[in-house]
Amino acid sequence: MTGAAAPDRYALVGHPVDHSWSPFIHELFARETLQNMRYGLIDVAHAGFGGAVRAFFAEGGRGLNITVPHKQAAAALCDALTPRAAEAAAVNTLRPLPSGGLQGDNTDGVGLVTDLERNLRLELAGRRILILGAGGATRGILAPLLARRPALVAIANRTLARAVALVHAFAGRGPLVACGYDGVERASFDLVINATSANLAGHAPPLPAATIGPATVCYDLAYARDATPFTRLARAQGAGFVHLGWGMLVEQAAEAFHVWRGIRPATREVLEALYVELGRQPGGASPDHSRP
Ligand code: ATR
Repeated sequence: MTGAAAPDRYALVGHPVDHSWSPFIHELFARETLQNMRYGLIDVAHAGFGGAVRAFFAEGGRGLNITVPHKQAAAALCDALTPRAAEAAAVNTLRPLPSGGLQGDNTDGVGLVTDLERNLRLELAGRRILILGAGGATRGILAPLLARRPALVAIANRTLARAVALVHAFAGRGPLVACGYDGVERASFDLVINATSANLAGHAPPLPAATIGPATVCYDLAYARDATPFTRLARAQGAGFVHLGWGMLVEQAAEAFHVWRGIRPATREVLEALYVELGRQPGGASPDHSRP
């Protein structure tokens, strides 16, 4: 008699990871697609990162997600990078290569674009997009956003030089401009994305009021249970649609699941289950349903 096969092992590596929703999300994906797998958490600080990753795969692990603060270190550790991971200069998904070694991928940017287009039904072509921040998070979303042919992507950052460096890095990929916060064009944008880490310090980036009109969609890459300083500011300035990054979280996970298992899980019910779990009403018809 043969016993049931042991589940394939996956995990998220980061620091901290104890409040992560990734096990919840991947468990629902696995159930929905009938995959025999388990998804755990590995909390490791800088010094132990490489060793923890190598040990996981040496012991037969099938795939890892990587989160703060290790996404850049993960890129350096890989034997091969997908084009989107190379563009992002960061890795959030690892898988072993058939030939040995590790491949790094990045599903964050496609996760954001899928959430905007499919879940929030926002057409990006021809739109004016303002991105706040010029760090790793911005770098990870630029290529997939530009691929949608927006009319303009403006990157505003406290340190202008970092925004300028991103514009140079993505030159020729689309209509991209850099500015400081006081240099942002004083006209409303269709989409304003907070990609700064200012929330962590309890601040909102100094977003000029003129950039937000009643039709502006304001999207915080951060996912929090409650309003963030950015979403509060956006509402105070009259934004009609304010979203936290929960949809992006689920969509980047779905893309990672596809990289690992070759199957693309449906996400709508998982996102609704997540909202229920968070104490919110599921789904709802309003595009504003993720408001804090
Ligand atoms: P991440 O990988 O999350 O993008 P990062 O690379 O450290 O992290 O980048 C953080 C971003 O948040 C930067 O754009 C940073 O601005 P600077 O480049 O000027 O440092 C931005 N940021 C952090 N705190 C901020 C604040 N209080 N106000 C405005 N921008 C802030």
